[in-house]
Amino acid sequence: MSCFCCISSHTKDGNGVEIDNGVEFESLRFGEGCSKGSAGVRSFKFRELAAATRGFKEVDLLGEGGFGRVYKGRLETGQIVAVKQLNRDGRQGFQEFIVEVLMLSLLHHPNLVTLIGYCSDGDERLLVYEFMPMGSLNDNLFDLGSDKEPLSWNTRIKIAIGAARGLEYLHCEANPPVIYRDLKSANILLDNYFNPKLSDFGLAKLGPVGDNTHVSTRVMGTHGYCAPEYAMSGKLTLKSDIYSFGVVLLELITGRKAIDTTRRTGEQSLVSWSHPFLKDRRKFGQLVDPLLEGRFPLRCLQQAVAVTAMCLQEQPSFRPHIGEIIVALEYLASRTYLQELHIGRTKHSSLQPSLPQQNGYTNGELSNP
Ligand SMILES: Nc1ncnc2c1ncn2[C@@H]1O[C@H](COP(=O)(O)OP(=O)(O)OP(=O)(O)O)[C@@H](O)[C@H]1O
Ligand SMILES: [Mg+2]
Repeated sequence: MSCFCCISSHTKDGNGVEIDNGVEFESLRFGEGCSKGSAGVRSFKFRELAAATRGFKEVDLLGEGGFGRVYKGRLETGQIVAVKQLNRDGRQGFQEFIVEVLMLSLLHHPNLVTLIGYCSDGDERLLVYEFMPMGSLNDNLFDLGSDKEPLSWNTRIKIAIGAARGLEYLHCEANPPVIYRDLKSANILLDNYFNPKLSDFGLAKLGPVGDNTHVSTRVMGTHGYCAPEYAMSGKLTLKSDIYSFGVVLLELITGRKAIDTTRRTGEQSLVSWSHPFLKDRRKFGQLVDPLLEGRFPLRCLQQAVAVTAMCLQEQPSFRPHIGEIIVALEYLASRTYLQELHIGRTKHSSLQPSLPQQNGYTNGELSNP
């Protein structure tokens, strides 16, 4: 378990970093209980990272987000890493940089990306992460090129469980709890075996402590994933993350983006579009990603949609706890779709044997409810 120990507040110049309910933290030290601490996170010189990325070459560009560009690099030790370079415009990015370093120095879990180090040379701000070879869930779910096959049903469930475990660690094991605030498919990174890891903790907040039910904060996060009560009032709770998790589940089931401005009006917001289908069990099948071509277990689909609908409840208190979600998803994972022959992707072999149906789980033909 990670814990935030001996946190001191307020820098002399008042430029501390706000990561909880209005308290500013300038530094974190570790008490006896924090065995891992920040010992593993090292400070890099800018020239080391410039060398690692061969001068931030365009060919090594992995992607770009609001924070800045991300490059693939190789450290002197030979380790392959992802280097994120902060755009130099705006204070917000600087604040996020510090929160990211503080959070990831303290939080360690197999479903959270590992921060290897950071660079704070002059006005350069860079973050160095373990390299995640399959990129983000976003990269694997949407706008697939002809060289990429769609993710299979079993892999989608595997990714959902791993992301839920990462969230459970933040909500239940971190002390005080951490509200992630930026759960979305772009922030779920995948290794070669499609094990997911949550990334980007620059917006994370320490959760409410004691008798407090929520944290009041400026509304931040990503449009399409933001819980309605948080967007309206700025009241942030652990249940705000559960709503965002519901949106990610919906993306996994439908293969549609949370917000897609290329679709016609009425279909641009995934949650609004899905409403009529989520309410009617007979329409669940119409939600499913056509790229799955019917290759999913029907009863599991029904249960996955039911979990998704619970996460998306308007009333935060009606949304499930992350532990309950994990129990439900683990049950679904135990009912794997047996006709899937390729690990990770959906493609069928022409030599596919006809496998017996087990546990009464049929494929996704909805004519057979
Ligand atoms: N550790 C990593 N390993 C491999 N690729 C990564 C890693 N981190 C980020 N990327 C790639 O870089 C892209 C941009 O990531 P980044 O976190 O900067 O932006 P984002 O999450 O897509 O959006 P935003 O930060 O604006 O919310 C990701 O979509 C992913 O493809
Ligand atoms: Mg990201």
